[in-house]
Amino acid sequence: MATTGIDEAMIATLVQRFYAAAREDPLLGPVFAQVRDWDTHIARITDFWSSVVLMSGRYHGNPLAAHQPFLLGEAHFSRWLGLWAETARASCPPSAAECFILLAQRIAASLSRALATPLGTPALEPNEAPAASDHRTRSHHLSPLPHSRKP
Ligand code: HEM
Repeated sequence: MATTGIDEAMIATLVQRFYAAAREDPLLGPVFAQVRDWDTHIARITDFWSSVVLMSGRYHGNPLAAHQPFLLGEAHFSRWLGLWAETARASCPPSAAECFILLAQRIAASLSRALATPLGTPALEPNEAPAASDHRTRSHHLSPLPHSRKP
């Protein structure tokens, strides 16, 4: 990430600005209103991005389990990504912003797919036909999420 100039301070600023905006958003705000401890949430998300971008290994949570109670749909993900891109472009140099945006898009796609897949359903990639012999599990589905990455 050396070429993007991303460091811990940039991550902290982006995360704080993003959640300040997300809490005010008409679609996302009511979901985030359910967060009980914002200091803990912000610290966890900062650790998450530090692990994803700087490979610091600081994040040890489970994003899929954390989102399961909230019944998030495509509209939530689309708004989240739009706001993230807007905040990243306003807060970071262009190459850093594009890096944050691309990573968020990949993680959101993985999260959204996993949330839409009932437990025990074989995980299918786009354009992949179901096969009677397909016994793959949910864990295959989640490989792009950072909690499954080795530190
Ligand atoms: C679809 C829109 C989204 C909404 C409304 C949403 C909302 C939430 C909420 C309410 C929590 C629980 C916070 C708490 O009680 O502490 C949470 C946790 C979290 N979210 Fe999201 N989220 C969304 C998308 C995303 C995306 C796209 C990412 C990653 C790029 C992400 C990363 C995380 C992480 C890392 C946590 C902490 C999980 C843990 O507890 O370890 N979220 N989110």
